[in-house]
Amino acid sequence: MSIRLGVNIDHVATLRNARGELHPDPYIVAKKVMKCGADSITIHLREDRRHIKDNDLKILSTNKSIPLNLEVACNKKIINIALTNNPNFVCFVPEKRNEVTTEGGLNLKKNKFKLKKIIRKFNKKKIRTSLFINPSKIDVKISKEMDAKCVEFHMGKLSNLVKKNKNYSKELKKIKFCCKYAKSLDLEVHAGHGIDYKTAKILKKIREIEEFNIGHFIIGESISLGIDKTIKNFKKIIK
Ligand code: PXP
Repeated sequence: MSIRLGVNIDHVATLRNARGELHPDPYIVAKKVMKCGADSITIHLREDRRHIKDNDLKILSTNKSIPLNLEVACNKKIINIALTNNPNFVCFVPEKRNEVTTEGGLNLKKNKFKLKKIIRKFNKKKIRTSLFINPSKIDVKISKEMDAKCVEFHMGKLSNLVKKNKNYSKELKKIKFCCKYAKSLDLEVHAGHGIDYKTAKILKKIREIEEFNIGHFIIGESISLGIDKTIKNFKKIIK
C-alpha cells in the first residue's frame, strides 16, 4: 500500500495576503502540486481568514480533479460553509484566535456531543471525516465512538524534539501505540504538523500511517529547491 501525501497550501495564501494582491495564487499552486505527484490538497479556512479565504475554497472545491481536504474548527458558520462547498475530506481541528498555528489536538471530551452531531452530517454526505488529535489512547477511543473515519495525529511534540536534537523515544513509542490502537479500531491513520524530512523518515516506518499532511516545510523548502523537487523528495521518503 502506498502512503499518500497531502500538501497544505495555506502559506501560499499567507504570502499572497502579505501584499493584499492576487499573487501567488493558491489555485495555480494546487494544480502544480498535484502535477508534481501529491495525492491531495489541504487548506484550513480559519475563522479569522488569515490565509485561505472563502473564494479560495470555492474555486478549489469546484475543481473535482483536485482531492480537497478542508480543515475546519467546530464553529457553526464554518461548518455550514464546509457543508455547502462539499470538499472530498474534512478534518476537524481546534482553533484559537491568537495562536500562530494549530498548537495541539482537539479537546474531545469537552466537545464530544457537539462534534458527534457534526460528524454525522459529513458522514451522511459521504465526506471523509478526520479528527486532529494528540497521540492519546482515550482520544482514539472517543474518535471511534464519534464515528469519525480517520484520526490525524498531531506530530508537533515529536517534530520539536527531533528539531532540537532531544530524545524523542518516549513520544515515538506513544505515537506507535496510538497508531496501532487506531488501526485496530478500523480508523484510518494520518500524521500532520511540523513534519520535515527528518520526521517523515522516522514516521514512515510506522506501518499504520496511510497519509501525511505537510504544509509549512514544503512551502518553505520550495523557495530554494522548487516545489517539484521538494514533493519528489517527500514522496521518495514516504513511499
Ligand atoms: N494537519 C493539520 C490538521 C494541521 O492543522 C496542519 C497545520 O497546522 C498541518 C497538518 C500542517 O502542518 P505544517 O504546516 O506544520 O506542516
